[in-house]
Amino acid sequence: MGGILVQAFLKQQIFSTDQILATVGHADRANVLSAQWGVEVSTDNLSAARRADIILLGVKPFQVPDLIKTIQPALTPSKLLISFATAVKTAAIEEFSGVEIPVIRAMPNTPSMLGAGISGLCRGRYVQDHHMQLASDIFEAIGRTVIVDEKHMEAVTGLSASGPAYIYIIIEALAEAGVKVGLPRDTATLLAAQTTFGAAKMVLETGYHPALLKDAVTTPAGCTIDGILELEEGGLRVTLIKAVMRATQRAKELAAG
Ligand SMILES: NC(=O)c1ccc[n+]([C@@H]2O[C@H](COP(=O)([O-])OP(=O)(O)OC[C@H]3O[C@@H](n4cnc5c(N)ncnc54)[C@H](OP(=O)(O)O)[C@@H]3O)[C@@H](O)[C@H]2O)c1
Repeated sequence: MGGILVQAFLKQQIFSTDQILATVGHADRANVLSAQWGVEVSTDNLSAARRADIILLGVKPFQVPDLIKTIQPALTPSKLLISFATAVKTAAIEEFSGVEIPVIRAMPNTPSMLGAGISGLCRGRYVQDHHMQLASDIFEAIGRTVIVDEKHMEAVTGLSASGPAYIYIIIEALAEAGVKVGLPRDTATLLAAQTTFGAAKMVLETGYHPALLKDAVTTPAGCTIDGILELEEGGLRVTLIKAVMRATQRAKELAAG
């Protein structure tokens, strides 16, 4: 996810190559990524944190305490720390930091790579409006943002951070269906993906309720209603609701340690 953000920031010209310092866990990986992105990449977290005004933190949740311990000498209230580590609360990060540093939690998703992401953002105790504005500006440049209370961050994780995986499965299944009814695979995949994109665009741009848009496709005694009958019988709605509930629950379990 960190790599996706770096590449998106460069592509959308939010930051230039000389404004970004990235770190990874392995030195050989640092060299490869540095050559690939044209930015300085190292394994020295403390040095990078000392030189940074904004620190984006994106390791696995269990790695966060150690990482903050490492960069702790560089943390001051004048820096901004944005964490996109799943399930790690702002209060925990503030506590590990040991200083009154502004902490913002972000939950982006992988379509950020193409500027089509969505990120949930929430604020910690020491965050002022201008910090929030800065974080929103950064994440808006790689898609859209929603600002939520921290209690909703696990729900954002279960819906929009995990969500692209659910949608890829739906697209894959629709493409398989196209193959089943005789279409070449490439054509079926294009039809499935562009239909998904178009339906999402309709929801976003018309502002109509999805049910109303669905009704407009559903001619009485036509083809679509037969397809919908199969979806209802197969429990697609309930399955998707349960998928989001389950992923949200898992994020809560991770948050609880
Ligand atoms: N994937 C998503 O869609 C998504 C969305 C939102 C949030 N997140 C969250 O983002 C975090 C990272 O997830 P991911 O999917 O990007 O994992 P990932 O693919 O395993 O990437 C983790 C990155 O962290 C680096 N790293 C590990 N230890 C480090 C250390 N001590 N110092 C500096 N860098 C270190 C790794 O470097 P090496 O490769 O060199 O080890 C690697 O580049 C998680 O908390 C995840 O829940 C992910």
